[in-house]
Amino acid sequence: MRETVLKNIPLFADLSDEILDKISDLMQKRIYKRHNMILMEEDVGDSLFILNSGSVKITRLSDDGREVILSILSEGDFFGEMSIFDGESRSANVIAIEDSEVFILKRGDFLDLLEKHPKIAITLLQEMAVRLRRSDQQIEGLSLSDAESRIAMTIIRFAEDMGVIKMGQVVIERLPFQQDIANMAGTSRETVSRMLKMLEIKGWIQRKGRRLVITNYDEFVKEFG
Ligand code: CMP
Repeated sequence: MRETVLKNIPLFADLSDEILDKISDLMQKRIYKRHNMILMEEDVGDSLFILNSGSVKITRLSDDGREVILSILSEGDFFGEMSIFDGESRSANVIAIEDSEVFILKRGDFLDLLEKHPKIAITLLQEMAVRLRRSDQQIEGLSLSDAESRIAMTIIRFAEDMGVIKMGQVVIERLPFQQDIANMAGTSRETVSRMLKMLEIKGWIQRKGRRLVITNYDEFVKEFG
């Protein structure tokens, strides 16, 4: 694997080409097709995963068997760090929602890297703080009684996670599928479909294929956030 591929991974930002070269020698590349299970809750965890392309959902099953989506990760994100740190089994399932290419790093190699390059550890902690904050927001959001507000909050989360701001608009290039949005907002696919149509008719959003534009992000957050 060439070190240039690793340049776009935030976890390894600012490392020299020489170090990136060494890291790339330690990693194994794997491709998962859409819907493939990458990690299974309760499995023993001994490796870290970095998503080079595609996207994955982090899920758990509710008591009544429904899929609950905790998060959706995309290019450049990492996962599988939790079992490495606490030695417990995998905390959730990780499933590809698009064809995805991952780099896999063994536990021992990863821990060595963190010791040798504390910058990686700091970036990792920053990202874990962001994820905890998002989870806190999600817990608060799920207690909202109406499905519309929960869907709007989920869209705001996607905007924060994967959106690009351009002159007051937020562009999300690949909006997750409606069933996945529903499983994240704790509602049905039909309700998501209805809500997106309503937002479109009222001019809050524009859609083309999987591309979604929030026309005035500040106002959207004021109204729905
Ligand atoms: P691990 O527990 O090893 O395996 C499942 C992974 O899913 C976990 O590490 C994290 O990388 C990721 N994960 C679990 N919960 C969340 C969450 N709430 N937000 C984002 N990622 C998560």
